[in-house]
Amino acid sequence: MNNQAIGIFDSGFGGLTVLKELRKVLPKENLIYFGDTARIPYGTKSKETIIKYSKQNIRFLMRHHVKAIVVACNTASALAVPEVADLFDIPLVGVVEPGARGAVRESANGKIGVIGTTGTVRSGAYQAAIQRMLPGAKIESTPCPLFVQIVEEGWQDTEIARLTAEKYLADMKEAKVDAMVMGCTHYPILEETLRNVMGNEVKLVNPAKETALAVQAQLMEQGLLSDRTDSPEYRFFVSDDPEKFRETGSRIISLPMTHVKKISIENY
Ligand code: DGL
Repeated sequence: MNNQAIGIFDSGFGGLTVLKELRKVLPKENLIYFGDTARIPYGTKSKETIIKYSKQNIRFLMRHHVKAIVVACNTASALAVPEVADLFDIPLVGVVEPGARGAVRESANGKIGVIGTTGTVRSGAYQAAIQRMLPGAKIESTPCPLFVQIVEEGWQDTEIARLTAEKYLADMKEAKVDAMVMGCTHYPILEETLRNVMGNEVKLVNPAKETALAVQAQLMEQGLLSDRTDSPEYRFFVSDDPEKFRETGSRIISLPMTHVKKISIENY
């Protein structure tokens, strides 16, 4: 048993979709979230930059003595986790492996779609993980960078979102995928629009849900689950404007956020 908190980081508030799933699966765990709101977006930045940012984020969370870190950001999971996982002595769980596993499980015809930021799709991380788990899988991947801005504006259920999705996903529909990974923290917020565009027969895979189960399994295996009986504590840190984060974030996790503190991530 281990009652230390689990750390989570993302480029902004999108990773709260992962925190939300973690809370459901691991209701006894204390959680510490860092949203790098000053340096978002990660999806358009180079691998070197994402590795540097990820190391700083990890060092910050480790100062809070977390027992494991969940890399909620798909871009950081794709570009940095394979490079930095061995540098730290606590488990580091990214969203790519669990998301790929979910897609392989959900697909009946072996035709799998992957959407994400430009960095995630270009890295080929999801594609490689799916191919490893299902050799011969036919993978169609498309970067959908505008989805992040659409969600940040709160336009997920608008005509703009639908038209953008129609445009991005035309080849995906043509390829007849029967499962599609929503490979970016923001995309599960667009799920309704994505479902309308892709049709009900296509399974939309949310890596956040798969990751929460993977974290639970790993903590259980390593004897690191919490046995606390009082209510868990959630603490939030950001690198820019805590008020905006509090406002949007509370809506995503359907919970008032009490502790949101701004920190200087460059110092880590
Ligand atoms: N959190 C990022 C991801 O999941 C999306 C936003 C960004 O580009 O930073 O890839």
